[in-house]
Amino acid sequence: MIFTVAIDGPAAAGKGTISRAVAERFGFAHLDTGSLYRAVGVMGGDPVAAARGLTPDDLARDDLRSLVAGQAASRVAVIPEVRAALLEFQRRFARREGGAVLDGRDIGTVICPEAEVKLYVTASPEVRAHRRWLEVGGDEAMVLAEVRERDARDMGRADAPLRAAADAVLIDTSELGIEEAVRAACAVVAERLG
Ligand code: DC
Repeated sequence: MIFTVAIDGPAAAGKGTISRAVAERFGFAHLDTGSLYRAVGVMGGDPVAAARGLTPDDLARDDLRSLVAGQAASRVAVIPEVRAALLEFQRRFARREGGAVLDGRDIGTVICPEAEVKLYVTASPEVRAHRRWLEVGGDEAMVLAEVRERDARDMGRADAPLRAAADAVLIDTSELGIEEAVRAACAVVAERLG
C-alpha cells in the first residue's frame, strides 16, 4: 500500500510528536525532514556539497536538535540547490511501500502534493517559544525572537516557502494537549484509510 501523510507547520508546533505517534499507530515509516536540513546546516563548508553527500551518519549527530542547528537549517534551506539535492530522497520515502509520514515545511505543497492526508500543524509564536524554552532553557524572550526569525525566513523564502496546502486539515495546538492533537491527527488518517 502506498499512503503518505504529509505534516507541515512552523517550528515547535508539535509536528514531530504528532508524526511519530501517527507513524506508530498505523505502522508507517517516519521521516523528520527537518533533520536533513539541520545536518546540512551544522556541517559547515559548502552546503550544496553537504546536501549532495549526506549520509545516515550525518543524520545521527547528537547536536541536531539545538537552537543553533535550527537556525543553521533555516538558513541553508533557502538555497534552491540544497532543496533540490534533498528532494528525490524525500519523494522516494513518501511513496515507499507500507505507508509513510513525513513532517516538514513543504511536504504537502512540493515534496508530495499527491499525499493521501495533509495536515498543517500550528500554534501561536508565544506558545511555541514557551515549549521550545522548556526544552532548551535560557532566556525565553530570546527563544521567542528566534522562533519569529525562523518563521519569517521559512515563510518568506522564494523556493518552497512554508504555507498550508489548500487541501490540508488545520490542527492548532495552541490550546490542545498533545494527546488531543494526536487523536485529531489519527482521526483524519483513519477516516481516509476507510
Ligand atoms: O522542523 P525543524 O525545526 O527541524 O526544521 C529546521 C529548519 O529546516 C526549518 O526552520 C526550515 C528547514 N526545513 C525546510 O525548509 N523544509 C522542510 N521540509 C523541513 C525543514
